[in-house]
Amino acid sequence: MHIAVIGSGYVGLVTGACFAEFGVTVTCVDNDAEKIERLNQYKIPFYEPGLEDLVRRNAEQGRLFFTTDLGAAVSEALVVFIAVGTPPQEDGSADLSYVEGVAREIAKHLTSYKVIVTKSTVPVGTGERVRSLIEAERKEGVDFDIVSNPEFLREGAAIEDFMRPNRVIIGARSQQAVAIMKDLYRPLYLIETPFVITNVETAELIKYAANSFLAVKISFINEMSRLCEQVGADVNVVAKGMGLDGRIGAKFLHAGAGFGGSCFPKDTRAMLKIAADHGVPFEIVRAAISANERQVARNAERILAVMGADLKNMSIAVLGLSFKPNTDDIREAPALRLIGQLQAAGAAIRAYDPVAMDNARNALPEVRFCRDAYDACQGADAVVIMTEWNQFRNLDLARIKKSMRSAFFFDFRNVYDPAKVRAEGFEYRSIGRP
Ligand code: UGA
Repeated sequence: MHIAVIGSGYVGLVTGACFAEFGVTVTCVDNDAEKIERLNQYKIPFYEPGLEDLVRRNAEQGRLFFTTDLGAAVSEALVVFIAVGTPPQEDGSADLSYVEGVAREIAKHLTSYKVIVTKSTVPVGTGERVRSLIEAERKEGVDFDIVSNPEFLREGAAIEDFMRPNRVIIGARSQQAVAIMKDLYRPLYLIETPFVITNVETAELIKYAANSFLAVKISFINEMSRLCEQVGADVNVVAKGMGLDGRIGAKFLHAGAGFGGSCFPKDTRAMLKIAADHGVPFEIVRAAISANERQVARNAERILAVMGADLKNMSIAVLGLSFKPNTDDIREAPALRLIGQLQAAGAAIRAYDPVAMDNARNALPEVRFCRDAYDACQGADAVVIMTEWNQFRNLDLARIKKSMRSAFFFDFRNVYDPAKVRAEGFEYRSIGRP
């Protein structure tokens, strides 16, 4: 089977490479010629573990192609995935101009039956909108079907999430389109992945519902961490005790610096907008968003409360800049907000991140970027863990303590055992633990 994936960003590239790995012939399309040229040299525009190898292998074996020629890719394909960006607008709604532009382009090149699939996270009703755009502009007599097949890829674990998903959602009206999609995903059928077959609107909503619910879970435990601090309880143990109840589940109950990234902040706001447009006050999602805003703002406040409001002549080491480990993505990363607030209080920042420093350089002009965690802590008054990269989980604490000027240790991902860090002579603070 031939498929085309329009948009070679994060979702498109992972989707294309993984389908190629399933044995499908895939053409990835992008209108950025420079990006396509680099992809043809197997240069991936972002950091995602395992993706470069996957792209190289499948391209070398003749199953994965990159082009700017949308028309040629669409004519050859039976299934066309739309995987272009849907950036947030001022009012929180998703900007659909790229999706609509691509739909018009596809219509121009529709010469035979195709299944046209939205993979980007799009508001309810977008499938219908794409259908009517294509219907209006296609040549007469050429048939097509619309499918919604939302992605559930976590940055940093995207290949694993694609190859071994919890579920595959297929929203479609036509039985023929469902059969073609099932055929495409056959390797997952063989490993007994649950498939949810439904209508387009339901599939579109499932994506927002899932991300919003996960955001609610995180904000719940983050608010719980505040209460824990007040009553002398340990939020990690509260989460464990709750999570062992199979109805609740242990995942996404890690209290921390607040959620960030390109998905939860954007999708929760879009969820609110969709609900409001339909007259539904989705208060629980609104509360999760504001709890997260407070959680992110509080990181710096915690530091100021311990070290004093004036940080002039103070040097602070920030470990981790990406919004979570195993990605170089710094969009809505709590570390960036923290650094701005600490700088406003007069602190000099020394930072280290295993892969996100190149992305951070422009956003953080005044920051001294360091060689590694030890270099960052050199001469610092405080160290702050903002991202739980594995390499920060087992640092030589005695070595760090010796190299620092003062010994404040803020662990905003609850990576360390408080007793162990305090035993090294640090003034240690974490989230929601006595
Ligand atoms: C999220 C979803 O997990 C994916 O299923 C979805 O496909 C994706 O959004 C998307 O919409 O494209 P992602 O944003 O890559 O994936 O990252 P997550 O691993 O979900 O983490 C999001 C944020 O929540 C991070 O800032 C992380 O540090 C934070 N988090 C997560 C917590 O603070 N506590 C937790 O227990 C879990």
